[in-house]
Amino acid sequence: MQKNNSKPGKIDTALVVGAGIMGHGFAQLLAMHNIEVFLVDQSDDILARARCWIVDNLDYMIELGKLNTSGKETVLSAINFTTDLVGNLPKADYVLEAVSEDFDLKRDVWMTMGQNAAPGTILASNTSSYDINELAEGLPNPERIIGTHWFHPPQITPCVEVIPSKHADPSNIDLVMEFLTGLGKVPTICKSAPGFVANRIQMALAAEAIALVEEGLATPAEVDSIVKNSFGFRLGAYGPFEIMDQAGADTYLGVYRYLEEKLDKPHFKPPKLLEKQVKAGKLGLKSASGFYVYGPGAVETMRRDRDRKFYARLELVRKEWEQE
Ligand SMILES: NC(=O)c1ccc[n+]([C@@H]2O[C@H](COP(=O)([O-])OP(=O)(O)OC[C@H]3O[C@@H](n4cnc5c(N)ncnc54)[C@H](O)[C@@H]3O)[C@@H](O)[C@H]2O)c1
Repeated sequence: MQKNNSKPGKIDTALVVGAGIMGHGFAQLLAMHNIEVFLVDQSDDILARARCWIVDNLDYMIELGKLNTSGKETVLSAINFTTDLVGNLPKADYVLEAVSEDFDLKRDVWMTMGQNAAPGTILASNTSSYDINELAEGLPNPERIIGTHWFHPPQITPCVEVIPSKHADPSNIDLVMEFLTGLGKVPTICKSAPGFVANRIQMALAAEAIALVEEGLATPAEVDSIVKNSFGFRLGAYGPFEIMDQAGADTYLGVYRYLEEKLDKPHFKPPKLLEKQVKAGKLGLKSASGFYVYGPGAVETMRRDRDRKFYARLELVRKEWEQE
């Protein structure tokens, strides 16, 4: 990736509050897209650490041939490292809050953002779990409040969950979608509720992985190996509904019924929607209808797409094994 010369959306200047694991990655990505960034944290030491992390990331990009050497200084010169939140807020078109996951702390920062950012500035939070409406409650100009939940490392991982607050103006939602797309991301809108979409799923997965280790059935390394090389291998290409359609809703239902009977854990109770699908004969690819509808020829195309994607991934994974 060379330094991108176009500025996405109508956003020229961004302010990121919190220069930690996520915040430094935001600053790097935004600066790589010619956006002037104010990266704010509480102390010069923390900001110096963030600068070091960005320099390391950029140096590695140069080593990998993804950035010109001249691009590095341009990117770094676009980032203002500062402890002055209040003074810089009025300069930003997009403010992204990325302070620690502590509700009271975030509320304080949000009050400051609401009072000092320009009325038209998009205000966003990178919270992993808090309802955006609770975080932003009572702030002036709520039509500009839109959560954007990114995934680590944010300068690389494509998805951003876009979570409009209940007062968000549709034109601001469009602006944020256009902005994120211009940054090379895959923004996807979801409603504001604790954990949004990704973390509901991710936390459920982690809980069951931990339970397997606690029950002495596998070590963490064994769980990781099984996940990475089984459904984890597929997940980069297909989401859970596409995978259910490929496997068959009836097969899933049978597994749920057995696990519910044997394991006595409420989350293995067969989901009502799945029972309904099976009752309606919507089994997936094998019945040409499932969570998705497959028109004429679509099942064959899907099978070929699946094999092409999986062979490509297998080749990549094998290369990684050789390097390990
Ligand atoms: N780490 C992840 O993988 C990840 C992924 C997605 C979302 N998130 C979310 O992103 C947010 C940040 O997470 P992180 O992992 O970067 O945390 P982090 O602890 O690495 O960084 C948080 C930063 O916020 C700073 N901070 C605290 N109070 C501040 C204040 N009043 N003003 C300015 N800066 C302040 C801290 O000094 C710290 O540098 C959290 O809401 C987290 O849930 C994290």
